[in-house]
Amino acid sequence: MSVNAAPSTYAALFERVSLGSLTLPNRIVMAPMTREFAVAGVLSAEAPAYYARRARGGAGLIITEGTAIPHPVAQQSRRIPHLYGDAALARWREVVDAVHAEGSRIFVQLWHCGLGRLNDETDNPEAPSIAPSAIGRRPVRAMTEADVAEVIAAFAGAASTAKHLGFDGVEIHGAHGYLLDQFLWTRTNRRGDRYGGDLLARTRFAAAVVAAIRASVGRFFPIMFRFSQWKGGHYDAKLVSSPQELEILLRPLADAGVDIFDASTRRFWLPEFAGSDLNLAAWAKKVSGRPSLTVGSVGLEGPLDGNYIGEMSATPVSIANLKELLRMLERGDFDLVALGRMLLCNPEWPARVRQGRFENLQSYDPARVALALEPADEAQRAAA
Ligand SMILES: Cc1cc2nc3c(=O)[nH]c(=O)nc-3n(C[C@H](O)[C@H](O)[C@H](O)COP(=O)(O)O)c2cc1C
Repeated sequence: MSVNAAPSTYAALFERVSLGSLTLPNRIVMAPMTREFAVAGVLSAEAPAYYARRARGGAGLIITEGTAIPHPVAQQSRRIPHLYGDAALARWREVVDAVHAEGSRIFVQLWHCGLGRLNDETDNPEAPSIAPSAIGRRPVRAMTEADVAEVIAAFAGAASTAKHLGFDGVEIHGAHGYLLDQFLWTRTNRRGDRYGGDLLARTRFAAAVVAAIRASVGRFFPIMFRFSQWKGGHYDAKLVSSPQELEILLRPLADAGVDIFDASTRRFWLPEFAGSDLNLAAWAKKVSGRPSLTVGSVGLEGPLDGNYIGEMSATPVSIANLKELLRMLERGDFDLVALGRMLLCNPEWPARVRQGRFENLQSYDPARVALALEPADEAQRAAA
């Protein structure tokens, strides 16, 4: 990297930032991305290098792929890593150390799939999945009070494990139609007890998860919460339709201990509610009083459009949308900016943007990242 590079137009992205007890070298985050390269819940031996390359490329914070909490039916499939068991934890420790060695921070994403579990492809295929309500095509049962308590304890245990492993924080996966989001969404939550009903009641389970995690990790360990309007396969879904409703959703989560909201959208530049140009992350920050992260097609033209890499479309690089990103960031709309697909194909995207070296950036092509862990990285490294 040239030390004589002119001050970047994109300097706002590269400021050191402190959010409560968390200090990051810059505002660029690697978004959580499932890669399905775990075997029996243990990440592959290449995973530490895979994450470290994105840290070396300049992402100040890495959020790991969704990781199964210690609960028998949390895991989507056998290809998803566990946050339990000696072998899985030993590999995670290598990942943490490798990212820290590059000067970046790392959060683990805590995931329970609920209805999103691929029953036949899991370690525990004969067990039905659990969800707020027993709906859908696969074997599933509605959660009892005992299930609720078990899942809450599993989230809290996973967060405590994360802290002991040296992670710098956790991200709770409350988005995209998985278990926590199934409680938040009317379509998947048909419960008549205190966890169902109006919007405030539907936040109760997620808030209890946050509170239990906060109690297990103490006051200063960062907790990020990812939420979304959209669900896998339902891009027009809405949890909330006004800033007032968003406040009803986020306030209990903030009160329970969330430090940062990750507002998952597919196109960061789209206004969320009529009458204002603020996006979902900007509204999250405004109504919750907590810092926020934006995500969705940063540096790319087309939005995320599939649940699995094999279903996703290729899309070209966009330099133009960075101008809008900067305008929003400089206005203080949000604090952090995450990139997903771009960092799969261009691990060194932050370093290149900082230097204004946009030539040779690779478009997003799932074919290049679908099967193997690193060929795209190696090609990129050679070209960098
Ligand atoms: C291959 C792939 C896997 C993903 N897996 C997860 C995941 O495990 N957890 C999650 O919250 N989001 C997941 N996402 C969504 C990303 O975190 C991100 O929000 C989305 O890709 C939009 O960002 P982008 O337009 O920069 O790619 C995944 C996205 C991709 C492309």
